[in-house]
Amino acid sequence: MGSDNMVKIFDTTLRDGEQAPGCGMTAEEKLRVAHQLEKLGVDVIEAGFPISSEGDFESVKVIAEKIRGCEIAGLCRANFNDIDRGWEAVRNAEYPRIHTFIATSDIHLKHKLRKSRDEVLEIISTAVKHARHYTENVEFSCEDATRTDLDYLCRAVDVAVRSGARIINIPDTVGYTVPEEFASIIRTLKEKVPGLDDIILSVHCHNDLGLAVANSISAIREGARQVECTINGLGERAGNASLEEIVMGLKVRNDRNPFKTRIHTEQLYPTSRLVSQVTGVNVQPNKAIVGANAFAHEAGIHQDGVLKERITYEIMDPEEVGIPSNKLILGKHSGRHAFKDRLEDYGYFLDDKAFENAFKKFKDLADKKKYVFDEDIEALISEEFVRSSDFYKLISANYSGGSDMQPVATVKLLIDGKEVTISESGDGPVDAAYQAVSKATGLNPTLENYVVASITEGIDAQGEVTVRVEDEGVITQGQGSNTDIVVASVKAYVNALNKLRWRKEHPKRVTSQGM
Ligand code: KIV
Ligand code: ZN
Repeated sequence: MGSDNMVKIFDTTLRDGEQAPGCGMTAEEKLRVAHQLEKLGVDVIEAGFPISSEGDFESVKVIAEKIRGCEIAGLCRANFNDIDRGWEAVRNAEYPRIHTFIATSDIHLKHKLRKSRDEVLEIISTAVKHARHYTENVEFSCEDATRTDLDYLCRAVDVAVRSGARIINIPDTVGYTVPEEFASIIRTLKEKVPGLDDIILSVHCHNDLGLAVANSISAIREGARQVECTINGLGERAGNASLEEIVMGLKVRNDRNPFKTRIHTEQLYPTSRLVSQVTGVNVQPNKAIVGANAFAHEAGIHQDGVLKERITYEIMDPEEVGIPSNKLILGKHSGRHAFKDRLEDYGYFLDDKAFENAFKKFKDLADKKKYVFDEDIEALISEEFVRSSDFYKLISANYSGGSDMQPVATVKLLIDGKEVTISESGDGPVDAAYQAVSKATGLNPTLENYVVASITEGIDAQGEVTVRVEDEGVITQGQGSNTDIVVASVKAYVNALNKLRWRKEHPKRVTSQGM
């Protein structure tokens, strides 16, 4: 298969994904995700929207400096300030890209931009030419393309191409289109805009009607050779097209969709888990490819079939997408060597001190649990090394209570380098502990959601708690796991508060949809 059939995967988890409420990531977390995206084999990482905040600028810059082997894009509105700032952030990348955009639909022109069609064409030309002073690698997006008058869309694309854009992106910004219509938009552009054959045509679909993946694949079949998507389908409102679904849709149905990507599919599941951990957003159990039930067979007749021959009810091998087949891995007698091997399988290469710390935690866990599963190790490592807990670190959480006693909890936290111990009473041990943490940190957000799930099976399973908190319009989520669910709850709350403080110290001035 020639390169004509190669589809570039443009991952926007760190930009569009991060824009979703509660999905904010710290700079350190973004870098960790970027390293994993590099390992996954994506072609382009859209690392952020540099003008939107100091924090975004810094994290795009660090990602551009540290990640090798893929293009790093920064999103910019179609104006000089955004483009100058965007270039400043990505310029040290091995392959920097400027991604600039403006809306082209009459709805956006009239109500948001308050500009005429001709004025917008002028802005496109000026912005793309300005970006081209910095690099050849310029992408232009017509925001709300699918609700744009088709003749005008062709004119806008033509102007962008003539001004020097090398990649033209057609976003279905509000998730409105349907596969045949989207295919016909792509076909028309290819027919009517001269020179489009030398340009990479890209699509970027939102999932408001649940059609983002279908629309993306339909556009690829018409000649789109870049697809913008996110891990776990994160993104504004109902999210973006899910990267794992597009990639496996092309791979499993290659007979119908004869296209290739450079994705190492066995990294899909580890990437999905990492993104879920750092954002605190759980993957729905029935999510295609990476959901907990995607390869689970409950009905007896299905189980019987799979045991006899896997392909009776499975169209993919779970190992192909990185779901570990042998989940039971280590026990209390496992040694340093086995533990180290397993960590390296996950991509964690720790220095001696960090390794000893992780090994001690593993041994403590193995003393509490008979069997230690992959998910247990992953939770332990992610809390230790993936998350940013610069501001507040939980040292201990203890509680007493019961049916005849007022619950009391005592938490010890390391706050900005100082140990703080607070005891509080409450309606239950979790309430008491949360009050103590709030008092210690001075943060008292509204608890919008609190969910407990068990990560592994059995009475000694680790509980995983996910919380969502809100304070003055800033929403963050946190996750924590432990064999004791009160301790898991406190970890989740502290994780959410760390993000809350980070978000408050790095406010977003604008979002790509807010202008
Ligand atoms: O959905 C959209 O239109 C976008 C653009 C900024 C590419 O995210
Ligand atoms: Zn978008």
